[in-house]
This record gives sequence, structure tokens and C-alpha cells, in this order.
Amino acid sequence: MNVLNFNISYETYENFNELSEGDKLLCAKAEEALNTSYSPYSKFKVGTAILLENGEVVLGSNQENVAYPSGLCAERVALFTIGAANPRAVIKSMAITAYTENFEIKNPVTSCGACLQVMAEFEQKQQSPINVIFYCLNGKIIKVKGIKSLLPFVFVEDRLANIII
Ligand code: THU
Repeated sequence: MNVLNFNISYETYENFNELSEGDKLLCAKAEEALNTSYSPYSKFKVGTAILLENGEVVLGSNQENVAYPSGLCAERVALFTIGAANPRAVIKSMAITAYTENFEIKNPVTSCGACLQVMAEFEQKQQSPINVIFYCLNGKIIKVKGIKSLLPFVFVEDRLANIII
């Protein structure tokens, strides 16, 4: 029996001002996306902004439904919007943030497993890493370079795919 370890590195920032100008812009866009969140059930707004290689920024927000599992997270709303508009689009980075009036969010909200799995496939498809910034409106920020840092045992099976784009 062997015990192996993953070595995962990520960046932390104390606040918005420490970010690069480009990342600041993307975080501000993610904040803007909170305005379109449809979250009457959880009252938990999630916003994301995704920067494409061509400079375009695509926004997404969580969209809930009275049949709870029918709703979708902000990240997948934006990622699938990109996939549907242009399957060849290359994603450079994405910023994610959250807000609720019910309590103070003190740490950056990290994406759920299903969203990470979808991010991972976009990364695999485009063959270049996606930077992810988890932006907390109240301060702390986490940045990872590449989805593998977030989901080391990602499910991949190339023989299931017949990717034609
Ligand atoms: N949510 C997201 O939009 N992204 C995530 O990665 C986790 C959770 C949403 C789903 C639901 O509308 C609300 O947050 C509360 O779970």
C-alpha cells in the first residue's frame, strides 16, 4: 500500500486592490452579474464573468427553479452559453462571486463539483489552462491556474468522446 499526495498550489489575495488590473475588471464584471441572479429560493446570488481569448467577457448568474434540481449554477450558465454560441471559443479566465442579504460571506465561495467537472472539460477541449478567481466581496480572494488544482481526480475518458467542433 502506498500513500500519495497531491501538491496543489493557489494564490491568495487579501483584497481586490492586490489583483492585476485585468483580474480587477473581471471581478467587477462578476459582481455585475449578481444583478441577474434568479435565486428566490436560496436568496444566494452567484455571479460569474468569463474572459475569452478574443477579449470578449461572458456573464452568468445562478438560475433557480421551483423544482429545485432544475436550476443551474452561475458557472454552468455562463460556460454553456459560451459553448452554445461558439464551440471553438477559448477561455482565459473566470471570476466567481456571491452575495446574500441573509449573512455576511467572509470567504470566497468556491465552485461546486459539477461546475468544476464542466470547467475541466472546457479546459481539456481547448488544451490550455483556465484561471479561476474566487472573489469575496468582503476581502479575501483565491486564484488557481488550471482546473486540475481544483479537481485533481477529475473524470476523463477520451474514448467516450467523439469531439467534433
Ligand atoms: N451555486 C452556484 O451558482 N454556483 C456554485 O458553484 C454553487 C452554488 C448556486 C446554486 C443555488 O442557486 C445557490 O447557489 C445556492 O446553492
